[in-house]
Amino acid sequence: MRVLGIETSCDETSAAVVEGNRVLSNVIASQAVHLQFGGVVPELASRAHLRKIVPIVEEALHRAGAGWEAIDAIAVTYGPGLIGALLVGLNYAKGLSLVLDKPFVGVNHLEGHIYSNFLSHPELVPPFLALLVSGGHTLLILVEDHLSYRLLGQTRDDAIGEAYDKVAKMMGLGYPGGPIIDQKARQGHADYVTFPKGLAQDESFDFSYSGLKTAVSNFLKSIAAEEQSRHINDICASFQKAAVDVLVAKTIRAARTFQVPRITVAGGVAANSYLREEMARQAKAFHLQLFVPEFQYCTDNAAMIARAGWQRLKAGFRSELSLNAFATLPLGEPVLPHAG
Ligand code: KG4
Ligand code: ZN
Repeated sequence: MRVLGIETSCDETSAAVVEGNRVLSNVIASQAVHLQFGGVVPELASRAHLRKIVPIVEEALHRAGAGWEAIDAIAVTYGPGLIGALLVGLNYAKGLSLVLDKPFVGVNHLEGHIYSNFLSHPELVPPFLALLVSGGHTLLILVEDHLSYRLLGQTRDDAIGEAYDKVAKMMGLGYPGGPIIDQKARQGHADYVTFPKGLAQDESFDFSYSGLKTAVSNFLKSIAAEEQSRHINDICASFQKAAVDVLVAKTIRAARTFQVPRITVAGGVAANSYLREEMARQAKAFHLQLFVPEFQYCTDNAAMIARAGWQRLKAGFRSELSLNAFATLPLGEPVLPHAG
């Protein structure tokens, strides 16, 4: 079964053709228009998706060497995300489904991130833990079986990627801040400042990043500009340690508590070098297997949506043309109009 995937939940217009774990094409157009604003502007995102959706889907088919007739079904993100942005992809997918007379299925964006792991690691099997870390999400999920989830914890305020971006902005480092802080932190000393690790002592599997963000802001105000520029790498390393250590600690604790032998990390922040190193070190110490998708499947992309859709379609899920888009959409909720 060949699935055309479409993803437009935020600022990436993406289309892909996937057959099981095999990616035949994965085209991603990032919207440069937001750079000057230091964050995604929803209205501009919708307009950019409208301009790009048709050529991007055509390019995905072209690169896959497939015509419309070679597509068996369509998978499209219907939430969570920016409503105006989601509606562009969802409505286009509905139109294609109608015209081509092929089924379509709505996919939860978070489920897409979880399934990105299978694209890089076909040998992965449930049960496993999924740590999902991006600009919009920070979640720890127990994947009990295919399409079956138990949410163990999530952020109570900011997402971790959002904290990286905001802290980078405070220090005038540019956007998106994650890769810049990651780079600078590699040359810094993490013991320069001790920043608070949100909810580290809390027995829940929840996370919190607003306190850390405020602590960095207060610290920057307390020092001279000269000290900030001289110790910029150290401040980045100290922030990164506080942000990441708690993620690793809670993920490892969850794996041991629920006796799950495998851990996966996905989402844009999965590209973080300290998170990868620290998670790998601790997973090894506790004899847990760690899987991280290749970078191209960590950030928002349609291949992961097509892969998750493929799983749903195989299980008999189909969506109706009345399917709506949702800004918030809990994972695993039976929101799809009908199954079977
Ligand atoms: O998954 P993604 O592309 O988009 C969504 O938010 O859904 O994630 C983007 C986020 C941004 O906040 C960015 O700063 C962060 O991922 N990011 C990183 C790194 N690369 C990207 N954060 C920390 N370290 C990185 N190397
Ligand atoms: Zn995402």
